[in-house]
Amino acid sequence: MSDRSTGISLTVKEKIQLHLLEYAKFSDEYSVPPEITQSGISERVGIHLKHLSQYLKPLLEGGQVEERTAHVTGKKQRRKVYHLTSVGWVDASKVKDLVMGSPINYMTASGRLREGVLTEVMERYTQGRRIMEVLSAIGDDGVMDIGALVAGEAEEERLVDHTEEAPRTPDFVDRLKEIEKIKSLLDERKIVVIRGLAGIGKTALATAVCSQMRGSKNLLWHQTRKWDTPTTVLLKMGRFLRALGSTMLYEHVSGGAAVDLGRVEILLEKELDQSNSVMIFDDFQYAGEEVMDFFSMLGDIVERTEDANLLVLSREAVPFYDRKAVMIKKTVEEMELTGLDFESTKEWMENKGVENDFEAVYKRTGGHPLFLELIGSYSGRS
Ligand SMILES: Nc1ncnc2c1ncn2[C@@H]1O[C@H](COP(=O)(O)OP(=O)(O)O)[C@@H](O)[C@H]1O
Ligand SMILES: [Mg+2]
Repeated sequence: MSDRSTGISLTVKEKIQLHLLEYAKFSDEYSVPPEITQSGISERVGIHLKHLSQYLKPLLEGGQVEERTAHVTGKKQRRKVYHLTSVGWVDASKVKDLVMGSPINYMTASGRLREGVLTEVMERYTQGRRIMEVLSAIGDDGVMDIGALVAGEAEEERLVDHTEEAPRTPDFVDRLKEIEKIKSLLDERKIVVIRGLAGIGKTALATAVCSQMRGSKNLLWHQTRKWDTPTTVLLKMGRFLRALGSTMLYEHVSGGAAVDLGRVEILLEKELDQSNSVMIFDDFQYAGEEVMDFFSMLGDIVERTEDANLLVLSREAVPFYDRKAVMIKKTVEEMELTGLDFESTKEWMENKGVENDFEAVYKRTGGHPLFLELIGSYSGRS
């Protein structure tokens, strides 16, 4: 074991012990998985097959490991396989306890550097995975890459996607720069506000951002309505957080009793923290005074959390944060959305089969998607 304050470095012997510990239940089985054959072990602990015996030998001689011949799933011939003895099991368990209690630097799927004890990290991010697999995600720099580890399908299924309310945009064109900009802003800031005229493409752009984040973020989309109250918004957020495994906010706001904002504040902070989520609020110009006040509180809460972002779309300025948050604290970033650029306008018109003088159209519409759509529908009819 390493004696640095963080980081886990194991000897080959310890790796073999940990690996075999996870296959202990097969010691009396007739048929065993290939992971405990010589090639299985060397692959899992990351050494060349021809070097394995030099590491196995002392373990066999010391009575820690035993060898037998067994039927291996997927193989015709019986193979030599290896198990921990009861003494070996006790020793390996001690190694495991030490490793599990070690502090480790890790990077979350969203790219944030953190420090934690391995047990907690595994509980939070890598449930059901074998310890050797998890440890293999530690790079040469000693940092464990959670993103690489959870890139598999099984983890994607665990992401929550509550974006049914978002409209679809068939033939969405480009806006690559804007998409990248918003994604990077969401990494740096807690709240991103996109402002722009009606029809300029805020909703369409945000749905494109969503499709890119779908495999890595938990997503909530809320269409703001004039009649929204803090409670209708909280119910939506509560359901979302419940789907993420945090039920207390939902229980509080769905209970029927009056919503206690003091309590809501505590629950929201607790449940949003580390939620790896982006919550999108579309058409926020419809928010009434009460919802706006609630968002002042929500903005402050989100500021105090990690891995929780707000993406707010609005036609007008949204006064739920102050200039300090934009200029000094840099927790909020505003972005003014303008029309499509010339290339995208051209692509758009080609998609729609509009045969027109691109340049003239671009000049007249400024790449404003709604105007383009009008031109498209006229020329479609002619
Ligand atoms: N990049 C784009 N590619 C294709 N169509 C777009 C694009 N942006 C907007 N549109 C279309 O233009 C119309 C207005 O866009 P929308 O996103 O609803 O604007 P906003 O939300 O700003 O009011 C919609 O019909 C939308 O599908
Ligand atoms: Mg819109």
